[in-house]
Amino acid sequence: MAKRITASMLSRQLSGWDADEGALHSLLACAIRKVIRSGAIAPRSTLPSQRELAQVLAVSRTTVGHAYQELADEGWIVTRHGSGTRVRATKLRSGPLAEDDRLGTYTAPTGPLDLSSGVLQTSPLFGKALRSRWVQDLRRLSFNDRFMPWGIDELREAVAQYYTDLETLTEPAQILATNGSHHALTLVTACMLEPGDTVLVEDPTYRGALDVFSRRGVKVIGVDCDDNGPIPGELATAIRKHSPRLIYAIPAAHNVTGVTWSPRRRRQIAEIIIQTGVPLLDDGSTADLSAGDHPGHMASLLPDNLTITVGSLTKLFWSGLRVGWIRGPEPLLKAALNARVTSDLAGSIPSQLLTATCLPTAPEARTLRRSELIPASRTAETLLSEWLPSWTFSPYHGGACLWVDTGIDTVALASRLRRENILIVPGSEFSPIDRWRTHIRVPLGNPGLLEIALPRMAATVRGVDSASTVSACS
Ligand SMILES: Cc1ncc(COP(=O)(O)O)c(C=O)c1O
Repeated sequence: MAKRITASMLSRQLSGWDADEGALHSLLACAIRKVIRSGAIAPRSTLPSQRELAQVLAVSRTTVGHAYQELADEGWIVTRHGSGTRVRATKLRSGPLAEDDRLGTYTAPTGPLDLSSGVLQTSPLFGKALRSRWVQDLRRLSFNDRFMPWGIDELREAVAQYYTDLETLTEPAQILATNGSHHALTLVTACMLEPGDTVLVEDPTYRGALDVFSRRGVKVIGVDCDDNGPIPGELATAIRKHSPRLIYAIPAAHNVTGVTWSPRRRRQIAEIIIQTGVPLLDDGSTADLSAGDHPGHMASLLPDNLTITVGSLTKLFWSGLRVGWIRGPEPLLKAALNARVTSDLAGSIPSQLLTATCLPTAPEARTLRRSELIPASRTAETLLSEWLPSWTFSPYHGGACLWVDTGIDTVALASRLRRENILIVPGSEFSPIDRWRTHIRVPLGNPGLLEIALPRMAATVRGVDSASTVSACS
């Protein structure tokens, strides 16, 4: 029930809040956020005034003011003149910062300087596909008035050929079309995981997958990685300890680290999977962005019953196609088919046809992407060294971004930058346990944007340097 929370009631819930290192206001915001998330304070309850809380906690009123501002920016609380500060009835889904709202930046009104997305510019090869004879094919398909929830034959055949060309022999019957690989992840999750099940992920990983798993009520455990992929010993231990139902991984051009598993690591992970029988959900969405040759998919090393692969042409051609697929064993595909019919009946035929038209030119599109991304990464590296020389990162080895260690608390930084209309995603969004609080993802899709944004970010960082030391609050 909503009530008025006094400063002493709140302070009891916050015991030890300032034990970690870091800016006091961030530690305080973090502790209050935890109390709200735990349900200990009911929605619509009124929080103590800044003055009362500052007095009880023996901090300045400014510290409490900044903490409240951070929570308001994230959508947890709202302050109204005359009626005080209240906990929101439902947390607003507009901010990029809160733990259970990892895809908030997709729906947030974007500022002019949006560095939150890893989306790439549309490939010129997409224009070529538009000029091809796909419209005639579409006319032919339009005489068919049935839904096609499996996907049109042209697409399933083209996807099967795409995998076969990468040494993963595939039949069209092994492919179910979806509305993008995120949709594919959602369907696989709905069919393979029950609330309470455990899934292992690389830490860090794709924030969208974390969102899908958490909405399903699945327990997510992170596995440590090095520059070659997940550390085999850590993976084996985590399997023994947690008995997961599934391992979710991004083996090539990882979103966010850019890492591609080495051939040796791929074999080691495949052995662990075969020995333990825990299936791998291989997210191949970024695999076409390896800086070197395409490494192929894990399905070429694993039996069909132990591997599910999802993919799309979002990275290679255009994010607006919204077509993806699942390559998997028949029982899973049938279950996913039923789940997709319930949610959307079937996918768009024009988009599938365009995707099928693009797919045979994937090798050319990969070369083109490399010719854009490698110079873009150099530009980003130069700008970072010039404007933010204390920030560190590994040299680019693939993917759509650089994974940068800023050395400061990026949750607080993101909050500040948002007030200046610059949108970034703090590193903790990519972790199941809010690690990587000093990291950010610097996207490479629009180097011109970085030229404007990085000097402005540098000015902000200089302005708040001492106040934004990393806080260990998680
Ligand atoms: C690893 C990974 N998986 C899935 C997706 C979702 O892609 P799609 O546009 O195909 O839904 C993305 C998009 O950024 C991604 O990076």
